[in-house]
Amino acid sequence: MIHFITLSIFPQIFESPLNYSIIKRAKDKGLVKFSHYNIRDFTTNKHKNVDDAIYGGGAGQLMTPQPIFDAVKYIKQEYGDIKLIFFTPKGRRLTTNLVKEFAYLPDNNITKRFILLSGRYEGIDNRIREYLVDEEVSIGDYILSGGEFASLIFIDTVTRYIEGALGNKESLKDESFNDSLLEYPQYTRPANFRGMKVPEILLNGNHKKIKEWQIQKQIEITKKVRRDLLGEI
Ligand code: ADE
Repeated sequence: MIHFITLSIFPQIFESPLNYSIIKRAKDKGLVKFSHYNIRDFTTNKHKNVDDAIYGGGAGQLMTPQPIFDAVKYIKQEYGDIKLIFFTPKGRRLTTNLVKEFAYLPDNNITKRFILLSGRYEGIDNRIREYLVDEEVSIGDYILSGGEFASLIFIDTVTRYIEGALGNKESLKDESFNDSLLEYPQYTRPANFRGMKVPEILLNGNHKKIKEWQIQKQIEITKKVRRDLLGEI
């Protein structure tokens, strides 16, 4: 099982999204577990502040070290030493390979835990990175208003790669990024929807021809929108 422990000033963000579909089922099957901690609950400051101005100037505020250090200490006292992941655009890009590494469990009886730290404001005091953070992860080259959405994406994608989390119908086999190619187009009934037709080749039951068509489409689509996946820039 993987136990995802989130650390954020908005723990309520995590409530709804983790209660549906594949993640909900994985939770019910005991493959994942969640705990959400509010950083603000750990502040010793009488105004309950968790942020402060930046030394040397600069716009905005940074998250202060005290509540985060104390929250992490509390969590580690509870569960032992755990890898802490901080979500930031400055981190390693989250890819299928990295997701598989995080999702890997040598044995189904082992509980693997992650603390997922979400920043807000302009970021966090650098001492948190230096002394607490084990790994920095980015979900893409854009700036989010906070790390909570990155944490949710991390949880969602890592959960899908835990053995037993997907049913046959949702198999990982034919998805985009396998073989570094994007997925081919797919259609369902009806074969003719208001004059818009499903490609003939998919209707004739020739599996070899269908497979060739699918691969050709994968290459076409990947060349068009993601040449970088083919090793071309
Ligand atoms: N926090 C803000 N932007 C982010 C990004 N692109 N990835 C991960 N965490 C972030």
